[in-house]
Amino acid sequence: MKLLITNIATLLQIRDAGIDKVAGAAMAELPLLENAWLLLEDDIIADFGTMDSCPNVAGAEVINATGKTVLPTWCDSHTHIVYAGNREREFVDRINGLSYEEIALRGGGILNSAKKLNETSEDDLYEQSKIRLEEVMQQGTGAVEIKSGYGLTVDAELKMLRVIKRLRQEYPIAIKATFLGAHAFPAEYKENHSGYIDLIVNEMLPKVAEEQLADYIDAFCETGYFSVEETERIMEAGKKYGLQAKIHVNQFTAINGIAACVKHDALSVDHLEIVTDEDIEVLKGTRTMPVALPTCSFFISIPYTPARKMINAGLPLALATDFNPGTTPSGNMNLVVATACIKMKMTPEEAINAATINGAYAMGLSETHGSITRGKKANLIITKSLSSYYQLPYAFGSNLIDTVIINGKVIR
Ligand code: NIG
Ligand code: FE
Repeated sequence: MKLLITNIATLLQIRDAGIDKVAGAAMAELPLLENAWLLLEDDIIADFGTMDSCPNVAGAEVINATGKTVLPTWCDSHTHIVYAGNREREFVDRINGLSYEEIALRGGGILNSAKKLNETSEDDLYEQSKIRLEEVMQQGTGAVEIKSGYGLTVDAELKMLRVIKRLRQEYPIAIKATFLGAHAFPAEYKENHSGYIDLIVNEMLPKVAEEQLADYIDAFCETGYFSVEETERIMEAGKKYGLQAKIHVNQFTAINGIAACVKHDALSVDHLEIVTDEDIEVLKGTRTMPVALPTCSFFISIPYTPARKMINAGLPLALATDFNPGTTPSGNMNLVVATACIKMKMTPEEAINAATINGAYAMGLSETHGSITRGKKANLIITKSLSSYYQLPYAFGSNLIDTVIINGKVIR
């Protein structure tokens, strides 16, 4: 099937093949064409150019994009879309003055979600999760990473990962799965950390690997959760099964976890609300992508990742939603991009780079996703008519998306 999009006011994020991420000052550049056309063949971006060279493609369906911006779909490299129930009550508890930490200490938080998930059947979990996946696709996300981590038992972690696998089979969106058995210590292991890590390493991981349920491994490296040493044990165990690390780190405290992640060649370090100068130094010149989650900061009122400091130091930065029931019950990447501009002082160009090509990198997908490149997947957002693409973050509450194409299929 051929689809020709014509009269595109602005075609954004045009990259040569082989560009896998952008860092530092280069994040301010967002290569574009004005008055452009773009040709999709089946699920691939075949060609593009300016209207003076627009081809006449026999048999092609044509979309006229006058006044509109076309850009690659969002690449959301950090989510927990598969979960059971919700945590609305904790939301109200926080409004009434409790902190995230206080709620967790009372048995709320991750353990609350784990209890609900253990009581939910695999089919029900799939039904609940697919609603969220469909929603984010409608909001322009074309590639997503999804973590386990609300099971915390062998069976329930496998249940979550099987649901992720089923979503991958049923939907056109690219999905990467991350095993997050090390999300929190179950109550029965509160005083026996090594016992739970043994369970992860000796029982969960071999089964996850045998069923090929995960692409990456994650741990919540944080005061009160997994220490740096414990996180290193998880990363080492994952490596034995070929699972590269993507680690939750520096959300509330800086405990030198980033250095350990870099040492283990983590693909990404995520959250980074609290970042020291040493953390920035240690990330320089590495293959590890820093990932910021601004709508998590927004929702639980914690600091925002110091994006300016990091980008000015030459680092790359990716943006993701963290969609989860506790700290970010939203998978809206449009809001993430706007929040990054408004609260983190990223320019629209930096934020769009962070939410596309750098997000693709942070889930090992930059060969196929994250830019307008001949040969990459036909994943596109076509906006409504805009005065300029600045309107995307500027009009932060408006739905500015007209059409979403994922794997060559118009899904909205
Ligand atoms: O990325 N920080 C750790 N994990 C999740 C939230 C967990 C929860 O509260 O359910 C996060 O924010
Ligand atoms: Fe998370």
